[in-house]
Amino acid sequence: MVQLERTFVMIKPDGVQRGIVGDIVSRFERRGLKIVGMRMLVVSEDLAQKHYAEHAAKPFFPSLVGFIRSGPVVAMVVEGKDVVTVVRSMVGKTKPVESPPGTIRGDFALDTGRNVIHASDSPESAKREISLYFDNTQLAAYSRIDEQWLYE
Ligand code: RTP
Ligand code: MG
Repeated sequence: MVQLERTFVMIKPDGVQRGIVGDIVSRFERRGLKIVGMRMLVVSEDLAQKHYAEHAAKPFFPSLVGFIRSGPVVAMVVEGKDVVTVVRSMVGKTKPVESPPGTIRGDFALDTGRNVIHASDSPESAKREISLYFDNTQLAAYSRIDEQWLYE
């Protein structure tokens, strides 16, 4: 039996405003990853600070928090084998200029402060971030009908 893992993904306000939510979600679906939670929200000051707490001392923290609160975001929980690593590789590098074509940031972004998407950087971060945005009743446990063709 394959071991499935969960990660937290957020399409940032620039991705929503630019109308590329569908393009991004579709990449995850086509890869075989399973969306088990999804909601649109405007992030509160408190939630933004908790989400990016690891960067609290960095000079870019105020602008990061301000940006993440500048419009609606789409928060998701995505499930699959090695999903934290798989999604980070699909997202690309923090700086879009260093993200190769084929990655989300390499295809859709140009500037570090407008890099379209967030994804958890470890299973521990994923757990913490999922619990910030979702409670268990908002997550769906189910099998995709193609799982036997995705996993051996
Ligand atoms: P994210 O957390 O948003 O998925 O991005 P990441 O892991 O690739 O990068 P991270 O180091 O966690 O930084 C979080 C976000 O802060 C902004 N940033 N600005 N001006 C700068 O030097 C700088 N460095 C990071 C980016 O928007 C980055 O996504
Ligand atoms: Mg990060």
